[in-house]
Amino acid sequence: MTDHQEQRLAIVGAGVMGTNITALALGHGVSVTLVDLDEETLATARTTVRQKLKHAALMGKLPADRPRGALTTTTALKDVADATTVIEAVVETTEAKRAVLTEVAGLVSPGTLLISNTSCIPISEMAGWVERGEELVGVHFMNPSYLITMVEVIRSPFTGAATLEKVTALLTTLGRRALVIEDAPGFVINRLLHPLINRAALLVQEGVADAETVDALLEGCLGHSTGPLRTADLIGIDNLVDSLNVLHERTGDPECRPCDLMLQKVRDGHHGRKSGRGFHDYRKAAQ
Ligand SMILES: NC(=O)c1ccc[n+]([C@@H]2O[C@H](COP(=O)([O-])OP(=O)(O)OC[C@H]3O[C@@H](n4cnc5c(N)ncnc54)[C@H](O)[C@@H]3O)[C@@H](O)[C@H]2O)c1
Repeated sequence: MTDHQEQRLAIVGAGVMGTNITALALGHGVSVTLVDLDEETLATARTTVRQKLKHAALMGKLPADRPRGALTTTTALKDVADATTVIEAVVETTEAKRAVLTEVAGLVSPGTLLISNTSCIPISEMAGWVERGEELVGVHFMNPSYLITMVEVIRSPFTGAATLEKVTALLTTLGRRALVIEDAPGFVINRLLHPLINRAALLVQEGVADAETVDALLEGCLGHSTGPLRTADLIGIDNLVDSLNVLHERTGDPECRPCDLMLQKVRDGHHGRKSGRGFHDYRKAAQ
C-alpha cells in the first residue's frame, strides 16, 4: 500500500475549509469521510468539492499518477472512529470546537492524529479539552487549500514528537510545504492578516475610500494578490468576526476588535463569496 492509500481521513465541518481540504485530499488519492450537522449542508458540500476538484485539476495542481480518493459524507460523528487522522474544521468558537474535539477524542483509538484547522485559538488551550493532548496539532491550511501549497503547522507545548512525524507524513502525501511555529493566538498569519483586514474595513467605514479602491491600492502599490477586502470575502466575514473576537479576547489588542462595518455585514447576512455579497458583489458572476 502506498502512503495515500494508508491514510483514512475524517474531516468535521463541511463549510469553506472542510470542502477545501476534502478536495485537496481526494485529489491526492486520500479517501475522506466528511461530517456536518445536516444533509442539506452535505449535499451542497458534495457539489462544492466537485467544483473545487475541477478547479484544482484545471490549474494543474493535482498529481497525475494517482486515482482520486473516495468521498463519504455523514451526519454521524461516530463515523470518524476508524480514521487515521481527524481534521476539525467547524466554526471558530470555543464552544463548537470544544464539543467536537472532546467527542472525537473519545471516539478514536490512541495513536490517531488530531488536527485543528483553527484560525486563532491557541492549540495549547484545545489540548486541555481532549484526552490525549499530545496527539493534537494545529494545521492552518490556507484558502483555497488545493492551490496554496504552504501551510502553517502549530506545535503546542503538549504536542508529541510522534504527532509531528505523523502530520509531516500526511502533509507530504498532500503535497504541502509546512513551516512549524510555536503556539500563540492567531499564530503568525492571522495575527498579521486579521488586524489588517479589520483596519481596511474601518477605512471604508470612515469613508476614506471604498472597498474597490482600498483593494486596488493594496494590489497596485504593495503587490497584494487580491486586496484585503476581497480576501475577507473569500474567507467569510462571519468567520473573520469570530476569529477577531478570539484574538481580541486573548491579546487585548484594540486593532483586533471587529469594526462596526464588519459586524453590520454579518447582521445583514453579507458574509462574502459564500452568500453572494460581502465587501464586493458576486451575484452577477454566479449567473
Ligand atoms: N475561511 C477561511 O478562509 C479559513 C482559513 C483557514 C482556517 N479557517 C478556520 O477553519 C474553520 C472552519 O471555517 P470555515 O470558513 O470553513 O467555516 P464555515 O462557516 O464555512 O463552515 C463551518 C462548518 O462547520 C459546521 N459545524 C458546526 N458545528 C458542527 C458540529 N458540531 N459538527 C459538524 N459540523 C459542524 C457548520 O455547519 C459549517 O458547515 C474555522 O476554525 C476557521 O477559523 C478558515
